[in-house]
Amino acid sequence: MKTVDFSIAYNQVHRPSKVALAVTQKHDGSYNLITLEWFMRTSIRPPMFAISVGHMRFSHKCLEANPYFNLVFPSSDMKELCMSAGSTTGADTDKFELNKVEFIQGKLKGLPVLTQAKAVFECEVVTQVRSGDHTIYVGQVKHSWLKEEGGVLVFN
Ligand SMILES: Cc1cc2nc3c(=O)[nH]c(=O)nc-3n(C[C@H](O)[C@H](O)[C@H](O)COP(=O)(O)O)c2cc1C
Repeated sequence: MKTVDFSIAYNQVHRPSKVALAVTQKHDGSYNLITLEWFMRTSIRPPMFAISVGHMRFSHKCLEANPYFNLVFPSSDMKELCMSAGSTTGADTDKFELNKVEFIQGKLKGLPVLTQAKAVFECEVVTQVRSGDHTIYVGQVKHSWLKEEGGVLVFN
């Protein structure tokens, strides 16, 4: 064992990892997508998920204005969408239109439920905490959606 720079140690351990998408609502009522590696389940009863969103992300603005998100667990054929949503910003791009994302309306606030996904959890933000240059939003799951066939995407 020896001490090294943080990124040297972290790069050796953070893959394979699961990746999720979070759907948020823009100020004009349309919707945005962000790719997230930093998310986790945080409560059994009620079920809750935390997502960590950078202060510079457009999604951060969306969450500050509308404290709801749909946490999307992508199916194994959604890698391209995850890369696109993780490399463009909703500030100047409609990621739903760009990627021809198919969805139905959710039950909580109408945020899109991606029909290609393995599972989608509709969440209401109940707690948030600043974590350095990110904000951790803790969302309580209000509705859960599942597509029974197919597997979940893993990033190697
Ligand atoms: C694989 C992958 C994982 C990512 N994980 C996170 C994350 O956990 N938190 C975050 O704030 N940004 C993360 N990003 C970066 C955002 O997805 C990216 O900056 C995105 O363009 C922000 O979109 P927005 O400006 O529309 O919110 C990730 C990107 C990729 C490709």
